[in-house]
Amino acid sequence: MIASPAPASRYLIVSNRLPVTVSQKEGKIELKASAGGLATALSHVHGTEGSRWIGWPGETGQMDKSARAELDRRLNADGMIPVHLTTKQVERFYEGFCNGVLWPLFHYLLDKVRLDAWVDWQAYREANELFADAVARHYQPGDRIWVHDYHLMLLPALLRKRLPHASISFFLHIPFPASGVFRILPWRREILEGLLGCDLIGFHTHSYQRQFLSSLLRLLGLETQVDSVTYDGRMVRVGAFPISIDTEHFIKESSTPRVEEAAAKMREQNTECKILFGVDRLDYTKGMRRRVLAIERLLERSPGLAGKFRLIQVASPSRTKVEAYAQLRRSLDELVGRVNGRFSTVNWSPVQYLYQTMSLEDLMPLYRAADVMVVTPTRDGMNLVAKEFVACRNDNDGVLVLSEFTGAAWELGEAVLVNPYDIDGIARALQQAITMPEEERHFRMTRLRQRIQRWTVHDWVKSFDAAFAQVTSENERLRQS
Ligand code: F6P
Repeated sequence: MIASPAPASRYLIVSNRLPVTVSQKEGKIELKASAGGLATALSHVHGTEGSRWIGWPGETGQMDKSARAELDRRLNADGMIPVHLTTKQVERFYEGFCNGVLWPLFHYLLDKVRLDAWVDWQAYREANELFADAVARHYQPGDRIWVHDYHLMLLPALLRKRLPHASISFFLHIPFPASGVFRILPWRREILEGLLGCDLIGFHTHSYQRQFLSSLLRLLGLETQVDSVTYDGRMVRVGAFPISIDTEHFIKESSTPRVEEAAAKMREQNTECKILFGVDRLDYTKGMRRRVLAIERLLERSPGLAGKFRLIQVASPSRTKVEAYAQLRRSLDELVGRVNGRFSTVNWSPVQYLYQTMSLEDLMPLYRAADVMVVTPTRDGMNLVAKEFVACRNDNDGVLVLSEFTGAAWELGEAVLVNPYDIDGIARALQQAITMPEEERHFRMTRLRQRIQRWTVHDWVKSFDAAFAQVTSENERLRQS
């Protein structure tokens, strides 16, 4: 629950994607829960105190007027306000600029960044204006506006212009890169100035926070403090608020008889064969290719391990219209085929690859049955899969192999930490995990579980909310002085 400064105060959550995504089947509108940490985490804010969620409901460009009106009614009834984007806007704003420029740049994949994207930049500005109009239309004095993620980094300043005295905050769900990388962006000043429309800006880690402050200093020449900067006569607070999961929910749901039985069955079928498990959106930041190459390296180094383990890798379709994602899909298909072709026997294959979206219901038994959870992104703002796995391990068993380049690695120090660029290093870490003695597994998992019980998504919301309330009243005092 949120500790609100005034009883009438409600949250206006603003994110590119709403917590539900629409599709139309045989003329019927279907709403599905949107995947990912942002949607799940914010459901704990949405629904409280009459809060509203403003965002894109997915592709509605082809819908006729009456279908769209019906959709809007259904969304409004659940406290959601849709911002509809045309097919062209989706192509240029979402696919072109957000996922063709900002996403690869903020994840340090410089060869994938399209820097001649002036038309897409224009679309990014226009889409942010559209969101600003929608927020301004629904704003009531006293509302607290919470903007989310890289799609909407111009929005705080656009809102400040329209609503000079509003309380505005922003949270970035992906890494903020080192200033030497960020400054590659031709539109770097506009993005920084866009964010400075806020009262509070939050990141997952202190490292992202420092990198942002260093960009403010180097690119805008602003004199920054450790956790704030004065801009335009206002105090802008900057802080680290690591996102987490609803730990209790995972603990409870992973101990049901259904999950226990399914996990036990999976283990019975694999008594001689350790289960390595990975589940990711099919995204080039998730390190899946190197993970499969590490399996190949492991089998080259230790041929005796053939038949003793297998990797179950689930890759859920994501951003399928962006060429880099389509390319990754082809190359991963080919790589898995090559490695399996090289090492498989009649009864065993090293990699079992599933290209599909898996529900949490189906994931839970896998989290419970896995001997080793493999989370090796080359960059990841936080990575909640790592936390979900730990939360589900009521048996205090299972080994987490975790990339050093995830936000989660700052918290989950008892995991086997790996450099995700080092294929040989991942292979060694997998071997260590497969052969880890029971006592060490228990020791590490017990501590990991204590950590994720101490800091849950509720703590994330509470700590952000408290910082937001504080800076809002500081700025109120400044205005009145
Ligand atoms: O982490 C960034 C993020 O935007 C998440 O919020 C979301 O789960 C994921 O990327 C996928 O986003 P989308 O399908 O909206 O591009």
